[in-house]
Amino acid sequence: MTDPPAIEFAHVQYRTTGNRILLNDLSLSVQRGEILMLLGASGSGKTTTLKLINGLLQASEGQITIDGKPLQDWDLIRLRRHIGYAIQEVGLFPHYTVRDNAALVPRLENWPPQKLKARVDEVLHMVGLPPQEFAARYPNELSGGQRQRVGLARALAADPPILLMDEPFGALDPITRVALQREFKQLQQRLNKTVVFVTHDVGEALLLGDRIALMESGRLSGVFAPRDFLESSDPAVKPYVEAFRAMQQVFD
Ligand SMILES: Nc1ncnc2c1ncn2[C@@H]1O[C@H](COP(=O)(O)OP(=O)(O)OP(=O)(O)O)[C@@H](O)[C@H]1O
Ligand SMILES: [Mg+2]
Repeated sequence: MTDPPAIEFAHVQYRTTGNRILLNDLSLSVQRGEILMLLGASGSGKTTTLKLINGLLQASEGQITIDGKPLQDWDLIRLRRHIGYAIQEVGLFPHYTVRDNAALVPRLENWPPQKLKARVDEVLHMVGLPPQEFAARYPNELSGGQRQRVGLARALAADPPILLMDEPFGALDPITRVALQREFKQLQQRLNKTVVFVTHDVGEALLLGDRIALMESGRLSGVFAPRDFLESSDPAVKPYVEAFRAMQQVFD
């Protein structure tokens, strides 16, 4: 028997309490070890999709399955342990040090202090923040890029098989962004997580994604391998490809 997908959406709808439909008829599967990029304009429903995956929001219709088990059958605490979430705008606690921010999830799970310290040291190294230099600092003593690295360290700390990343490199200068994208790619080759990665940057989607899921106004327009995305004649894809080509032409 083949493994079930890590994440599966079947005809999922999400409505607000005010009956606004934010996501409609979303069907999508994410394979284990895959990086799926969720690409779409602001307001298209990307963050809403991530929140449905980790149970912060509940689907109004349809079914979401995580590792073959319907979401409603998961114990919410176990689910959160299974899924690391690097949220949009990082969301670090300002009065916690880098170490305490990174340790958040393992601490909730009452890891013994020695194991906790060793693991936090390990993930801080992983994301390029040597603990001897950074662990005792507070978020306001870091650059934006360093803060995003702490967000990533926090998502990785409990070693979850699934990672949700919401525009983790969005607010960075282009040089830092490219450096972090490269590091993330290398890290992923080593860690082999299932990743759902939100971006509105088409270059980032093409660079990092095994596949690209394009969202438009709360609907999925299609899922593409990067090469197929560039060659697609789909009217929803075209503006992205044109924007990407225009960027490239600047350097021709
Ligand atoms: N609680 C809510 N009640 C009503 N509308 C909401 C709520 N949360 C989000 N929305 C709306 O739902 C739509 C999708 O929001 P979502 O945060 O998923 O977008 P996004 O694709 O992540 O956008 P961005 O790229 O700007 O982060 C937006 O139009 C937003 O205004
Ligand atoms: Mg968002």
